[in-house]
Amino acid sequence: MRSYLIEGGYPLTGHVKIGGSKNASLAVLSAAMVIDGPCIIDNLPAISDIDVLLQIFSDIGATVEYLAPGKVRLDARTINTHEALHSRVTEIRGSYYLLGALLGRFGKVSLRMPGGCDFGVRPIDLHLKGFQALGATTDVGRGIVTCSAEELTGGGVFLDTVSVGATINIMLAAVKAKGKTVIDNAAREPHIVDVANFLNVMGADIRGAGTDVIRINGRPMLPGGREYTVIPDQIEAGTYMILAPLTRGDITVDGVIPKHMEPLTAKLQEMGVTVEDGEDSIRVYLAEGDTLRSTSYKTMPYPGFPTDLQPQATVLLCLAEGTGRMIENVWENRFQYVDALRMMGANIITSGRLAVVQGGAKLTGSRVTARDLRAGAAMVMAGLAASGATEVFDIDRIERGYEHFVEKLTKLGAVISRVEREGA
Ligand code: EPZ
Repeated sequence: MRSYLIEGGYPLTGHVKIGGSKNASLAVLSAAMVIDGPCIIDNLPAISDIDVLLQIFSDIGATVEYLAPGKVRLDARTINTHEALHSRVTEIRGSYYLLGALLGRFGKVSLRMPGGCDFGVRPIDLHLKGFQALGATTDVGRGIVTCSAEELTGGGVFLDTVSVGATINIMLAAVKAKGKTVIDNAAREPHIVDVANFLNVMGADIRGAGTDVIRINGRPMLPGGREYTVIPDQIEAGTYMILAPLTRGDITVDGVIPKHMEPLTAKLQEMGVTVEDGEDSIRVYLAEGDTLRSTSYKTMPYPGFPTDLQPQATVLLCLAEGTGRMIENVWENRFQYVDALRMMGANIITSGRLAVVQGGAKLTGSRVTARDLRAGAAMVMAGLAASGATEVFDIDRIERGYEHFVEKLTKLGAVISRVEREGA
């Protein structure tokens, strides 16, 4: 069994290089499965979700070449099946993009239901609604999703709920459909724009990504043959940005796109934190004599405050002065980690989608478990801010989305080590 052992209480200071975006990489890599030629993709984060997805591609016959750390060459022309039924598919959420990719490539797909973090039901009804708008029939049964179409034809779909996954999956199925597709009430996350940019570089015709209406003119063939670099990870960057005031340190995140961080930057400034944007870096610190003040957060689709920074920001509210609130509008059950924070001395009351956080907590170390990827990161952050020792278990869940986590934190002055113990 693997865990992190943390000695808290040290201010974290210095520079940290932010890796490629996990959620953009999963989508861009899957988009390469629609392309009719080789694609080189760079700046992939060194995380297990990427390794699992690339293995799934190999399982179905795609050519996967590792050119350098974070850089692969993919060729989907060698794929020999429209079925991805290996149990590996259930290990990650990102495998759901194979629905759109293989449907777009072959006009049919069978996929085992994807896995992913467990914080409530994770439906795919909007993905299927989009495929049906392109003329596909869809079926879900015995844990397998099956879609097929005589001929994919462009269509219009309105997404009842703003959905990152559905927006991207419909895009992947539509890029080679006959005619024009319009996705209305589309998600606007930076990784949506990244996938659209990737597909356009490889020969597609997609307009409006980043707005709530995306228009796609289907093309029969996407030649590929180009290289693409994935955007930096806004959630990894946000995690380190929050660590600065949390540990009374001074952290600069390098290799970021400041515009993507605006939803967090605005909230940190509201809390009295100094945030200085550079060209491709952001410096974050609590100035001498300034007080960390509480505020209210509510998670929303981009450009609102991202749900994937909700646990991390809630930890910050525990230390701020005053009473703070966190409203989780995206997922119905994303406060499961709060019990562990209470064991560390946090004073939080939750009711449905609302958490009320009494600030001024003096966190103390404890043995805690990573319930999911971002909640796990929040446990590490709480341990770094707490006095005494914290041990975080189930760290595989954290290493799905944070590359070189121990190394990057140690470089900032954290006292943290990875522990391997015999037994389950
Ligand atoms: C993506 O999940 C991310 N995962 C999640 O990040 C992130 O929390 C989420 O987007 C929101 O930003 C990946 O990109 C791999 P959604 P996804 O479809 O696509 C409802 C992380 O930590 N919905 O945008 O599954 C759904 O229930 C992970 O990196 C439907 O009702 O999220 C939710 O309430 C955790 N029907 C809302 O939409 C559908 O068919 C947003 O979900 C699809 C979604």
